[in-house]
Amino acid sequence: MRSLKHLVLASTLVLSFATSTMVAPAAAQDKKLTIAFVNTGSESGWRAAFTDAMKSEATKEGIDLKYTDGQQKQEVQIAGIRAAIAQKVDAIVLAAIVETGWDAVLKEAKDAKIPLLLVDRDVKVSDPSLYPVTRVGADFDHEGRLAASFVAMASAGIPKWANGCNIVELQGTTGASAATERAKGFGEVLALFPGLKIVASQNGDFTREGGQKAMEALIKSQNNLKDVCAIWAHNDDMLLGALVALKAAGIKTGAGGILTVSVDGVCDAYKAMADGDFSANVVLLPSLGVQAYQAVRDVIAGKTVPKWTVMPTSTNVAAGNADLYNKYFAAGCPGYYGPQ
Ligand code: AHR
Repeated sequence: MRSLKHLVLASTLVLSFATSTMVAPAAAQDKKLTIAFVNTGSESGWRAAFTDAMKSEATKEGIDLKYTDGQQKQEVQIAGIRAAIAQKVDAIVLAAIVETGWDAVLKEAKDAKIPLLLVDRDVKVSDPSLYPVTRVGADFDHEGRLAASFVAMASAGIPKWANGCNIVELQGTTGASAATERAKGFGEVLALFPGLKIVASQNGDFTREGGQKAMEALIKSQNNLKDVCAIWAHNDDMLLGALVALKAAGIKTGAGGILTVSVDGVCDAYKAMADGDFSANVVLLPSLGVQAYQAVRDVIAGKTVPKWTVMPTSTNVAAGNADLYNKYFAAGCPGYYGPQ
């Protein structure tokens, strides 16, 4: 399993898409920048780590960061972008709560000649000329494919599920690219295995509370998960919340129980792997500040920037690695990738 992890890691290490954009006239690379960072909110442990990383990197680089907490609402994010335009900031960095509905405000930023960059989630625009100058973020589709590959491999090794595996899904925020793309990638791999199918899905909004409520509903609607072989959650927090509901219902997950897989790599997920409650996770790196601010500097300097800087990922598998994850958790989960 560890060699699989390193193969995947090597194959995905910071790939930048070839398509490039020439941008606005040059400005000094070392100018003190004022950047507006418009974030989704504080829904998950990953988000907390991401927000800290964006803020601390800005401080390290002497950037004046104007922060907007989007409170999980697109209208709050749009208001934050408009305020940033009015303040004439040097650039706007957006972590978009949902994919669509941005065209008007993107046009306003463009008309004001303020570069707008995406960090983390993607957006869709009806007018391609309005697409932000670049995106720094992970390949969510690939994360879904890795998660489904884990379920396919692990279930094949369990005699009871070797010929078929019923999966329940905990979905992230409706309309968020992290949810849509992960579901898509997962489905792409499932399509290769006729015995594997999603039998029920519930939305947990990327939160622990949402995951717990969603799992309580699934336990009821799916006969205490008696015929369920795997739980696929679009993030760790929902799975951690689900675990509370599963334990209360006396349903065993992880080693010797229902397989689980989720995305992120928050510290509590490693503890759950060490404890034998979680089976695997796909890592989403939260430290995007360095790449995002470098992209801002490049854009302002008029350099060519890639359309998408893809952050690396890998899969961590609990089986046989409990000691490793225990030590990793005890050390405070340094580096976020899981024990190397
Ligand atoms: O957009 C990234 C996702 O958003 C993370 O996987 C999730 O934890 C967060 O809320």
